[in-house]
Amino acid sequence: MNHKKIIIAIDGYSSSGKSTMARRLASEIGYRYIDSGAMYRAVTLFAMRHGMIGADHTVDTARLAGALADITIDFLPCGATQHTLLNGEDVEAEIRSMEVSENVSPIAAVPEVRHALTGQQRRMGSERGIVMDGRDIGTTVFPDAELKIFVTASAETRARRRYDELCAKGTPAPYDEVLENVRNRDHIDETRAESPLRKAADAIVLDNSHMTPAEQDSWMMEQYRKTVG
Ligand code: CDP
Repeated sequence: MNHKKIIIAIDGYSSSGKSTMARRLASEIGYRYIDSGAMYRAVTLFAMRHGMIGADHTVDTARLAGALADITIDFLPCGATQHTLLNGEDVEAEIRSMEVSENVSPIAAVPEVRHALTGQQRRMGSERGIVMDGRDIGTTVFPDAELKIFVTASAETRARRRYDELCAKGTPAPYDEVLENVRNRDHIDETRAESPLRKAADAIVLDNSHMTPAEQDSWMMEQYRKTVG
């Protein structure tokens, strides 16, 4: 049966498993998956490389705003996943580092950065048929998304997942540092003035603290089926 194409917005806290959930659903239903966090991470890497972030994470906002036109972000499909390209360079591994994680929330709080990326994200979804994950997809980028999910889990559970992920990638970081980063980002993301992390009024909440990835996948499919009818 051919359903009409919709937009699925998956928002939530850092390391809550949104990306895995969004990617798997997209591949299951033949939609395009867009990781909006990767876009903020790529801008962060650009700013780090060009000396626009101080040791105390202060951002040279004026210089960054002026450079935004020089930043192009694309996604390159790669097997079941995709790689993030910054001005044509594959930066997928680098944008997942702790250094980028430590600087990304201050960068994502810069209004000019948000406006530029929000515009690009809307263009990517203009034909619908996408699953996008982030912090403000259901509230700001696509307030008209047909299906909105808000994912959460305890900070400790999320830090443990990120810690395991970093270990598996061969770039381990101390658990306490990871937990502190998760808490810091939650705080900056929730308290920034420009489109802070919020549950959209019409989003369905999923606390996946005690769910396996398989349970999460079937829960997600059920929400999709209910929405498309
Ligand atoms: O992987 P994780 O869930 O920890 O984070 P991410 O989705 O890669 O996003 C990294 C950071 O980008 C977040 O902590 C937010 O500060 C910012 N972000 C945002 O502000 N808005 C979005 N739509 C996506 C990410």
